[in-house]
Amino acid sequence: MSCTYCEKESARVQAFKSIWANDINDVFADVANYYDRINNFASLGLLNRIRQQFLSTIEVRPDHKVLDVCAGTNVIGIDLLKKQPDIDVYAVDRSAAMQDVGRNRAKQHGFEINGFICDVHKLPFPDNYFDVVTLQYATRHLRVMDVFSEINRVLKPGGNFYHCDMLRPANKIIEHGYYIYLRASLAFLSWAFRSGSAAVKCQDYFIDAIRMFYSTDELSNLLTELGFADVTGNSVLGGTVAFHKACKV
Ligand SMILES: C[S@@+](CC[C@H](N)C(=O)[O-])C[C@H]1O[C@@H](n2cnc3c(N)ncnc32)[C@H](O)[C@@H]1O
Repeated sequence: MSCTYCEKESARVQAFKSIWANDINDVFADVANYYDRINNFASLGLLNRIRQQFLSTIEVRPDHKVLDVCAGTNVIGIDLLKKQPDIDVYAVDRSAAMQDVGRNRAKQHGFEINGFICDVHKLPFPDNYFDVVTLQYATRHLRVMDVFSEINRVLKPGGNFYHCDMLRPANKIIEHGYYIYLRASLAFLSWAFRSGSAAVKCQDYFIDAIRMFYSTDELSNLLTELGFADVTGNSVLGGTVAFHKACKV
């Protein structure tokens, strides 16, 4: 099997393994209570619109079993249940704080989501279990090949994986401007929301994680190399965000 991105993955793991192991959980514990507000505020409502666009690409039918990986505060699970209430939604995330907020949000909407607190590099589900798997805004913090292979394992043949994340823009000018915007907005938000020390410490990491991440086309190729079929990748906002869909063979 060819492994075009093995070197890139090793470099990401070497650069970030200590932050992933020691800091990321503290960051999300720190921001859990205002995570949804901060996103909306920082993007002037744009992230909500992008999420609606992403959700419109996701096909769910009654009785589908759906897994949201790195579910955070359950935004995706709740919106999918609004779209199709007759599905079973499972959520996995390592942060108990984010899932506490997510469980309460689901309850407020009258929904129940089966939450699991664990590291998503090993999913606690049997092979061929889910019709749909989603993953939004978390892959930058993960060993991508390992997690995508786990997602492939738990999907039923013919099931679909839907992915959305902030990616590395392929255009160098957009990429440069994007980092300037991110640096300024992270500094402003951590001041405005009085972020704790974990979030402040990781400001550089959040930019470096994108700098060392995949572009839309690279992520499509990686999914294909991992054995997914019918892979599509659509960029929005100049390639700073992309939606991917990939089918388990
Ligand atoms: C930026 S949030 C995104 C949450 C949600 N998907 C959304 O779109 O709002 C990233 C989430 O990934 C989770 N996460 C990061 N690394 C993880 C890991 N190794 N295992 C499980 N969850 C992880 C964090 O706890 C956090 O809830």
